[in-house]
Amino acid sequence: MIPGAEAVTPVIHTIGLGKVYSPGSEAEVVALRNVDLSVAAGEFIAIMGPSGSGKSTLMNLIGCLDTPSAGRYLCDGVDVSTLDAEELAALRRDKIGFVFQGFHLLPRMSALDNVAMPLGYARVPPAERRERARAALEAVGLGARVDHRPNELSGGQQQRVAIARALINHPSILLADEPTGALDSRTGEEILALFKRLRDDGHTVVLITHDAHVAAHADRICEMSDGELHEAARGEVAT
Ligand SMILES: Nc1ncnc2c1ncn2[C@@H]1O[C@H](COP(=O)(O)OP(=O)(O)OP(=O)(O)O)[C@@H](O)[C@H]1O
Ligand SMILES: [Mg+2]
Repeated sequence: MIPGAEAVTPVIHTIGLGKVYSPGSEAEVVALRNVDLSVAAGEFIAIMGPSGSGKSTLMNLIGCLDTPSAGRYLCDGVDVSTLDAEELAALRRDKIGFVFQGFHLLPRMSALDNVAMPLGYARVPPAERRERARAALEAVGLGARVDHRPNELSGGQQQRVAIARALINHPSILLADEPTGALDSRTGEEILALFKRLRDDGHTVVLITHDAHVAAHADRICEMSDGELHEAARGEVAT
């Protein structure tokens, strides 16, 4: 092996990734075409593009929530198609934090219990679950709201609960699908500052947004159109 080669293995590497929904039927949609994406450890990238261009589809594949119709995805050098369901679940749990478009919080649970969810009932003892969830909520500025249910929180606060939940297992990759879409610009800036802090701590951050001002915070910008992904040259994206 070339000395230092292990250091350049991308955390996210897709090769010719494609996704067709309902293939062969009348409802067939080609959502991703031949996507080659390589993201290094500690990079903060933004993916832009119009509604329906395939951003969430790509995010779901990177997050191992769905399987591609074509191509390969290497997560930290591992071809995820070689993993069985259990190994895939472990990879998702340990390596990937997902902030969904919309928040996907459980309405009957407190903020604390929502954040503690990914810790798994069996793996982490109850006292430690609560302690870690409380610390994660404090880290996103919600230490005073741990017992609130989602409908007792503002949109920005719910978004921050979703981010705390995504970070609870200290994943190396944070995937965020329109995390600032529902927020006013000041709260959005706070979330972006949080992502930059995570990047500085060595996390790899992939952020989906249709807002060029938001994307401008990233180190790199890619644009999707009609299922294809292109690298945007610096300064090319209008703000
Ligand atoms: N489960 C599905 N079954 C069939 N078609 C789907 C499915 N999910 C998405 N699509 C289609 O695939 C295309 C890409 O959808 P996707 O959700 O990836 O877009 P997006 O870029 O995230 O859009 P938005 O900005 O509106 O969130 C769209 O045309 C959509 O209608
Ligand atoms: Mg989407």
